[in-house]
Amino acid sequence: MARRPLVAGNWKMNGLRANLEELARMVAAAKTTTAACDILVCPPATLIALAAEVVKGSPIALGAQDCHHRKSGAHTGDISAEMLKDLGCAFVIVGHSERRTDHGETDADVRAKAEAAIESGLAAIICVGETEAERDAGRTLDVVGRQLAQSVPGNATPANVVIAYEPVWAIGTGRTPTEAEVAEVHGHIRAGLVARFGDAAGQGFRILYGGSVKPANARSLMSVADVDGALVGGASLKAEDFGGIIAAYA
Ligand code: PGA
Repeated sequence: MARRPLVAGNWKMNGLRANLEELARMVAAAKTTTAACDILVCPPATLIALAAEVVKGSPIALGAQDCHHRKSGAHTGDISAEMLKDLGCAFVIVGHSERRTDHGETDADVRAKAEAAIESGLAAIICVGETEAERDAGRTLDVVGRQLAQSVPGNATPANVVIAYEPVWAIGTGRTPTEAEVAEVHGHIRAGLVARFGDAAGQGFRILYGGSVKPANARSLMSVADVDGALVGGASLKAEDFGGIIAAYA
C-alpha cells in the first residue's frame, strides 16, 4: 500500500512571534516544492493561533506538541485536543521522550492523550524510542514493542495515528542509528501494527524516523524500508534546513 510520507517539524520550546517570519519562508518554499510528501509544523502552543494565519491556504499543516487527555475542566495550565482543533491543528504529538522524561508521562498517559486527540478529530503522532542504556543492553525491540502496544489506542487507524520512532540518544545529539538499525526497528513496529490491526490497516500506518535528521542525512534515512517520513526538531526551526529535508522526497 502506498503511504504518503510526512515531514513534521517540532519546534519544541522555541519560537517567539518574530519567528513566524521563518514560518512564512517555509510556506513560500512549500508552495513551490515538487516534493511528494505532506508537511507539518508544530510550533509552541503560544504561536499556534498566529501560525494558523501564516499557513492558511498553504500545503503546510499545523500541529501541537502535546494535549491533555480531557476535553475541558479544572486542569490549570493544560490545553485540550479540542482547543487545538479549534485553532486549526490537524495533528498533535503525544508521548515525545522529552515529555515522558520531563513530566513522567507513562504509556497509559500517552494512550489517553492519543484517545483524546482522536476523539477531537486530530491525528496523534505517537512517539516511541529506546534510551542509550536500553540499546546497549540489547533491549531496543522489547522497549519499543512495549511502548507501541501500550501507547497506541485500540481504535487507531492510518488516518488518525502516525508512529514516530525516535531513539532518545539520537535526539539533539547529532548521532543517528545506522540504516540497518533503523530498518530493524521500523520493521519491528510494522510487524507489531500488522499483528494488532490486520494487514490492510497495519501496512497503512506511517512510521516516521526522528532524531538528528538534517538535510545531509535525510535522503539516506528516508530511503530505509518502512520509513515514511521524519519528525524533525532542531532542523525544523530554519526554513532552509527544513526545506532541505523535505527535498528528500523531491
Ligand atoms: P532533533 O529532535 O531533530 O533536534 O534531534 C527530534 C525530535 O525530538 O523530534
